[in-house]
Amino acid sequence: MAEGHRITLAPEGLAFSCGEEENLLQALQRVGVAPALLAAIPVGCRGGGCGVCRIHVRAGEYRTGRMSRKHISEADETAGTVLACRVFPESDLEIEVDPSAANPITRSPTIAKQQRG
Ligand code: FES
Repeated sequence: MAEGHRITLAPEGLAFSCGEEENLLQALQRVGVAPALLAAIPVGCRGGGCGVCRIHVRAGEYRTGRMSRKHISEADETAGTVLACRVFPESDLEIEVDPSAANPITRSPTIAKQQRG
């Protein structure tokens, strides 16, 4: 798929495109021209191990890669709480950042500076 699926970040309604072979975190970084999007989801290991990029998928179809059970239980996963770096969209998605993902220590200084304006 050339254009990818439309990913909408609730409640702000900010949107970006993500292909099926790209994870959501990669797509966010690719569209780095949108600082508000980049600032929304913390970035850590990028491999499903640290848990800082927790999001909740409100609507849409997706598949996931391996995620640490320390951070995402089977119940979490069933409820749509997943790690953005391990989510590959298979349709348009509506997502929101999990409140527990807001760990300022893991945010890059550049993004933190952008947030302060
Ligand atoms: S960035 Fe570490 S789990 Fe996603």
